[in-house]
This record gives sequence, C-alpha cells and structure tokens, in this order.
Amino acid sequence: MTLGADVLIPASDIQEKVREIGARINEDYWGKNPLLVGILRGAVVVLADLMRNVDLACEIDFMEVGSYGLGSTSSGIVRILKDLQEDISGRHVLIVEDIIDTGLTMSYLHDLLLTRKPASLESFVLLSKPSRRQVDIDVKYVGFEVPDVFVVGYGIDYAGAYRNLPDILALELESASE
Ligand code: PRP
Repeated sequence: MTLGADVLIPASDIQEKVREIGARINEDYWGKNPLLVGILRGAVVVLADLMRNVDLACEIDFMEVGSYGLGSTSSGIVRILKDLQEDISGRHVLIVEDIIDTGLTMSYLHDLLLTRKPASLESFVLLSKPSRRQVDIDVKYVGFEVPDVFVVGYGIDYAGAYRNLPDILALELESASE
C-alpha cells in the first residue's frame, strides 16, 4: 500500500538529460549505424525519447527479460521472455535500460549479447542506484544516480502502475519489502 510520493526528478530535467546524452551518442557513433536495444518493459519511454535525440541512421529492437527473484528483489537468474529479432553480429549495439539496481540483469545481458559477436556493446541507463550494486558493471551512459528509494514514473512501475507519469517520483511505501 502506498502512502505518498515526492517528485525526485522532474520531467524537464529528464528531457534535458536525455538530450545531452543523445548529443554524446551522436558524437560517439558518428558515421555508424547503432542498434538501440530497449529492455521491456520499463525502457519503452526513455528509448522513445532517446532515439528522437539521436541524429544518426539507427535502428531499434527489443528484449524482455524477467528475474526469478521474488517481488522487487533480483535473484540474478534471468530468463528471456522475448529475444531480439535482429542478428547483432558486427553491429554497434547499445542496450537501453530505465534503471540499474543490483546490476545482475545488465551483467547477464552483456554476457549474453557478447556471445553474438557485436562490433561493439555499450549500455545506457536512465537511473542508477550505485548503493544496491552486487556486480561491477561498466555503464557508458548514466542519466542520474539516485539513492535507494522506490522510484516510479517515466516507464518505471510499481505493480504495473505509474509507468505513464512524466516525472520520476520517489514512492513512500508502507513496507519497503512489498
Ligand atoms: C528493472 C529494470 C532492469 C532491472 C534492473 O526491470 O528495467 O531490467 O529491473 O534490476 P537489477 O539491476 O537488480 O537486475 P523490471 O524487472 O522492473 O521489469 P520492467 O522493466 O518490465 O518493469
């Protein structure tokens, strides 16, 4: 049960950050044709904004992964619910995520996609919770570092809800373990 919510990152700050990272991607991938891989479902909103700030010939694809963990805790055992449609061998691949928490999902995705021999593999996360990290993983593009609070909005859900909110909110829960 939720008790309240405070705006943690307003929509205007998110848009500015996504523009700024889009400009960096334009420089870093100049002359290339990157494949932006959105990880369903949370990344849908940021991918839609990020790609419109990428002024290159680029393509998109999606994967959906799930954790066998209970509730909001990752177990590190990831299962693929939807795989890529594109062959990524020789492609410049950029994973696009809404949030990195323990890092287990990103670590798994990196290891998996590297076996498919991309020309390069980097990642973007809008939000990072460094205090929660369980594996050391290098993320090239990070929007915001946030404390260990329950966040929703701009693609991120709580029990399926709130993904449509334009701001990112810190949710106050009755029980942190819910
Ligand atoms: C979130 C996020 C990452 C993962 C990060 O997905 O999009 O995929 O958790 O957590 P980790 O760093 O601890 O592995 P979630 O399972 O909430 O699914 P969703 O994107 O469909 O909301």
